[in-house]
Amino acid sequence: MTTMPSGPVLDKGLANTIASDSRMSFIDGQQGILEYVGVDIDSLARHSTFEETVFLLWNCRLPKKSELDGLVAQIRAEYDIPAPMWDLIRAVPKDAVPMHVLRTLVSALSMFDPEVDDASPEANQRKAVRLLAKTPTLIANFDRHRKGKPFVKPDASLDMAANFLKMLNGEPATATMARALDVCLILHADHGFNASTFAALVTISTLSDLYSAITTAIGTLKGPLHGGANEAVMHLLDEIGDMSNVESVIRGRLERKEKIMGFGHRVYKAYDPRATYLKTFAKKLAEDTGNLKLYEMSSKIEEIMAAAVGARGILPNVDFYSATTYYSIGLQVDLFTPMFAMSRIAGWVGHCIEQLADNKLIRPRCEYTGPHGVKYVPIDDR
Ligand code: CMC
Repeated sequence: MTTMPSGPVLDKGLANTIASDSRMSFIDGQQGILEYVGVDIDSLARHSTFEETVFLLWNCRLPKKSELDGLVAQIRAEYDIPAPMWDLIRAVPKDAVPMHVLRTLVSALSMFDPEVDDASPEANQRKAVRLLAKTPTLIANFDRHRKGKPFVKPDASLDMAANFLKMLNGEPATATMARALDVCLILHADHGFNASTFAALVTISTLSDLYSAITTAIGTLKGPLHGGANEAVMHLLDEIGDMSNVESVIRGRLERKEKIMGFGHRVYKAYDPRATYLKTFAKKLAEDTGNLKLYEMSSKIEEIMAAAVGARGILPNVDFYSATTYYSIGLQVDLFTPMFAMSRIAGWVGHCIEQLADNKLIRPRCEYTGPHGVKYVPIDDR
């Protein structure tokens, strides 16, 4: 860090900047702790549901039964999308990348929401529910469209995870698969001021609208250093192909100073607690589905990485074992990052609403490193 003449501190990547405060999630990167409003992530993954976790994040407390039932009913009532949105999905090129599609369709949803520019807390709460509830419908039905399958309308008798899988596959998911997705949604729901949440906050801090903020966030999540890492992990596993190649591929990459996707974290220098849970979960799912190959290759990668760079705190992050988990659920690889988005919307809107309650425009400074006093020369004389 260096100091600018006027006082602000140059902090590339904002790694040492606390940009604001939040009551939603607590991360202790040294101890490997993640809590949502004080409740540890392991307890939530074991005992909660995604909808209950959303209530916790949005209200900063666990709900009573009637309160949870109320939120669940609101979400289910908003699963369906406006009629023109079905036509828009039909118009999307079938070879489009799902994260581009999601970003575009979420942005398009704003044009059908009469409350889009109503910034009252009540309207924002309703928009938060709409964004959360409609995103699975967009993702699943884009997937059906690109595969030439008929659309499947949402099923308001199901929770978000089971409803998504039913739309995606055209048939009800098994309880195990629906619960597996539910747990992934819980684990990805919030994570402090990660890049996409911060991007959403920059947008909302200008007093723009919630749809714009979430559109910004989706574009930011897509990058392979952030949510896109789960897809990159799967591509790595595909490239390795067989247990016998793990050692040479990983060591080769490390020697060429290439990053291994799904490892390392800006905040965690201990084991990412989400990865701890997902590792066990991925193993159980792999055993249940009788396909242990990817899990075993992942374990081997982890072993090599632990010996090579583990001491530097470069350990598996949430994306590493979520890749094999999503694979076991039967999801196509390019839907992995949209799954992350489907969950993280909970955190994005929660943080945006928190920001609006005590807003200050987010506008950092930059240190100018260009020249001064350059004479303007007319174009024909240059
Ligand atoms: N594989 C190999 N080396 C790594 C890795 C990795 N995955 N991650 C960090 N390093 C090394 C890096 O090369 C650098 O080494 P050196 O000091 O010798 O130049 C050092 O560790 C510091 O890395 P950095 O990229 O400067 O640190 P950061 O705090 O900016 O990185 C990170 C955080 C997540 C961008 C990085 O660890 C990374 O690129 N990981 C791979 C992508 C990934 O899995 N992203 C998902 C993050 S968790 C979920 C989410 O937020 O979406």
